[in-house]
Amino acid sequence: APLAPFDPTDPDLMAERVPHEELLALRRTAPVSFVRQGVEARGGFPDHEGFWALSRHADVAAVSKNQADFSTRETGVIMRFAPEMTKEEREASGFLLINHDAPDHTKLRQIVSRAFTPRAINALHDNLKDRAQKIVAEAIEKGEGDFVEEVAAELPLQAIAELLGVPQEDRGKLFTWSNQMMSYDDPEVEGDQMVAFAEILAYSMALADERRRHPQDDIVTKLVSADVDGRGLTDDEFGFFMILLAVAGNETTRNAITWGMHAYLTNPEQWELFRAERPRTATDEIIRWATPVTAFQRTALRDVVVGGQAIPAGERVGLLYASANFDEDVFVDPFTFNILRDPNPHQAFGGHGAHYCIGANLARLEVDLMFNAIADTGVAIELRGEPKRLRSGWLNGVKEMQVAYRR
Ligand code: HEM
Repeated sequence: APLAPFDPTDPDLMAERVPHEELLALRRTAPVSFVRQGVEARGGFPDHEGFWALSRHADVAAVSKNQADFSTRETGVIMRFAPEMTKEEREASGFLLINHDAPDHTKLRQIVSRAFTPRAINALHDNLKDRAQKIVAEAIEKGEGDFVEEVAAELPLQAIAELLGVPQEDRGKLFTWSNQMMSYDDPEVEGDQMVAFAEILAYSMALADERRRHPQDDIVTKLVSADVDGRGLTDDEFGFFMILLAVAGNETTRNAITWGMHAYLTNPEQWELFRAERPRTATDEIIRWATPVTAFQRTALRDVVVGGQAIPAGERVGLLYASANFDEDVFVDPFTFNILRDPNPHQAFGGHGAHYCIGANLARLEVDLMFNAIADTGVAIELRGEPKRLRSGWLNGVKEMQVAYRR
C-alpha cells in the first residue's frame, strides 16, 4: 500500500501551517495512502498503527455518505487525543452525538434538529445582526486589538448560548470551558481539559434541573424532555450533547471569521469587491478557505475498497477536508481566494452524509452578518503581525490576530 510521507494530523506541523503543498502532492501521487504513526503520534489509538488518508474530494464525499461500511462509533471522529488521556477519558467521547451510528444517531439528532432548520435560524437573524453591529462598533472604538477575541469569537458564542438557553452571565464560563476542552494539545493555552469537562458537565446538570422545573423555548428544555424509545436521555447523553453543541458552536465559526478576515486583508481587491457588491457567494468561499475542521475520521466496518485501494475492516480512515476543499479536480484555481466562486461544493461541513454539520445554516448566517457589519462601517483594517495558530491535529485554529482600525 502507498505510504504517506507525512502525517496531516501532526500537531507540530499544524501549529505552523495547514500542509497544503504536501496535501497537493498526496492528491497527485497517492490519493489514498497509509499514514504510519509511531506510538506517540497515535494520540489515543494505541492499537492502530496509523490511518488511511483520503485526500481527494470524491473519496471524502463517498465515505462520508457511506454509513453502511463506515462507523463513527468505533473510534469516534476525533483523529488525535492528548497522549496523556486515559482510556476511560477517551471512551467518554462515545457519548457524543457525532460518535453514534444509526439507528441511535438518527434518534438523538432528531431531538435537536428542529432548532437548526433554515426557518429556526432565520428567526435569529435580527437579533444576531444587532449583536454583530455592536461587536464591531466596540472593537473599532478601541482603535486596535485582538480580532479573535474581540470580534470573531463573540457572535458564535452569543448565538449558541442563546439557542441552548445559557443565561448571559454564564456565557463567559461556557466560552472558557469550550476553549480549554479543545486546546488539549496546545501547552500554551491555560487550563486543564479534564477540569473543564467536569465543570461544564456539572453546570449543564444544574441548568437541566432548572429547566425541568421551568421549561423554556430552548435546546436544554428539548433535551431534558426528550423521549428516545420511551426513555429520557441519561445524564451522560445530556451532558455530552451540551459539550458537543458548545464546542461545535464556538470553536469552528470563530476560525472561519478570523481566517476570512485574514484572507481579505491579504487580498485587498477581494475586500473592495465585497464592500461594493456584497456577493452571497462570499460566505462559502470564506468557509472553504478556512476549513476550520481539517479532518475527521471513520472506521471501516468491513473490508472495503476506496479510490481503488483496499482498506481492511477495523482500520481508521481520515477524511482530509482541508485537502478535499482544494482539490483541483473540483475547484478552478483552488488556491485563489475568490468570493465569486460558484458553484462551491466544499466539504468544510462534512460530506453530506448523516453527520453533516447540523449548525451549517447558523454558521453561514454568522459569517455573513459579521462581514456585512464590518463592511457597513467603512473602516479600514490593518494586520499587525501574523496570526497565532492553535496547536491541534485537526482544527485550523487561531488564538490571536492583532489588528488596527482606521476610520
Ligand atoms: C458536525 C464543521 C459550525 C454543530 C460537523 C462536521 C463538520 C463540521 C466537519 C462533521 C460532518 C461529518 O462527519 O460528516 C463545522 C464548521 C463550522 C461548524 C466548519 C463553522 C464554520 C457548527 C455550529 C454548530 C455545529 C455553529 C452549532 C451547533 C455541529 C454538530 C455536529 C456537527 C452538532 C454533529 C452532527 C451529527 O453527528 O449528526 N460540523 N461546523 N457546527 N456540527 Fe458543525
